[in-house]
Amino acid sequence: MSERLRIENLYKVFAKDPGPALQVLRKGGTKDSVFETLGHVVGLDDVSLAVPSGAMYMVMGLSGSGKSTLARCINRLNEPSAGRILLDGQDLVPLDEKALREVRRTRISMVFQHFALLPNKRVIDNVEFGLKLRGVAPAERRRRAEEVLSVVGLGRWGYHLPHELSGGMRQRVGLARALATDADILIMDEAFSALDPLIRTEMQDELLRLQRTLNKTILFITHDFQEALKLGTRIAIMSEGRLVREGTPQSIVLEPGSDYVAAFTREVDRARLFDARSVMKAPAVLWRGSAGIVVGGPEGGFLLDQEEQVVAGLDGAEIARLQETGTLPAEQAAPICVPEATKLIDVARCYRADRSVGVIDEAGRLVGLLGAEQILARIANLPVQEREP
Ligand SMILES: Nc1ncnc2c1ncn2[C@@H]1O[C@H](COP(=O)(O)OP(=O)(O)OP(=O)(O)O)[C@@H](O)[C@H]1O
Ligand SMILES: [Mg+2]
Repeated sequence: MSERLRIENLYKVFAKDPGPALQVLRKGGTKDSVFETLGHVVGLDDVSLAVPSGAMYMVMGLSGSGKSTLARCINRLNEPSAGRILLDGQDLVPLDEKALREVRRTRISMVFQHFALLPNKRVIDNVEFGLKLRGVAPAERRRRAEEVLSVVGLGRWGYHLPHELSGGMRQRVGLARALATDADILIMDEAFSALDPLIRTEMQDELLRLQRTLNKTILFITHDFQEALKLGTRIAIMSEGRLVREGTPQSIVLEPGSDYVAAFTREVDRARLFDARSVMKAPAVLWRGSAGIVVGGPEGGFLLDQEEQVVAGLDGAEIARLQETGTLPAEQAAPICVPEATKLIDVARCYRADRSVGVIDEAGRLVGLLGAEQILARIANLPVQEREP
């Protein structure tokens, strides 16, 4: 996967001369110690991260941890004090006003908590606004705006004024406006935080649905860890201006690395987060014969043909008999198999007490086995045989 945005050693100190604060930070000082000694507020302290193209990259942290400062530095609403911000390899930090305007107009799209819709303009004009700034011709502008409005389920509302829409619908207009621009990266700062819980869940689902077809690169800022888990392909966690943990949702919950991060993970619904791949154990070969090979263990196994395709499932008793007599059961049961990305909650739904669940890759090859032990241990957050998800 190629990289869209890379941030290298980014600092932001809110001071006319950030020099002295930078010196303190680089010698191991903290946001607190800078404030105590110099009276300057540190927004970002040596933040580095990479956003892959097509990622839904979540930046998460408590209030004041520096999330918005990071977002605002990327399009230079906040002037970085030190560091580099590479968008498709180009450093945005040294850009002059003119070049910067061009980047904001064409390559970065920002969505805030309260979408600032133009109140006197119809919904469609609001959506077209970014395209107009980009110099897109009126007919093409209208076509694109109508298209994205129908994508967000507001096809009938284009010719109404914003005040005729509910808050949730207005939020959708803001989303449509950001999506319409075709920017290289979409930055959404707490875009759903002001919504009612139900509408918020709807918007999250909507964004996930849109993302499956649009495949945009999105930097999404939130203080809600559940939202980060639900939407994110990767999550960066911030504290006191620093990036303290970065990784996939599964890897962060598996290994928080600090009490600060662990506190967020405590209430997580592990059955809905972890997938089969994250807990499966490697298949062991139990038997080889002209019919193929049998892999598994005492709790059950699978008969694979010469092409490693799963042809049948064996329960614990059949495995025991096979090992004793060397003969396969005359009648073979259909195997229970799930793809690697199946969540444990869904694995549990097809689990049968006397059998293993097989885990298969895209080519249909068996790559792992799951028993009750693996599934329950992960859901209960007990140590199991580890495998980086
Ligand atoms: N313009 C500014 N001048 C001085 N300090 C600022 C400015 N903007 C932000 N800060 C400070 O920078 C730090 C990070 O603020 P930021 O707004 O980035 O936090 P946040 O993580 O977005 O918080 P929230 O979840 O409340 O939005 C805070 O200590 C804040 O007080
Ligand atoms: Mg903020």
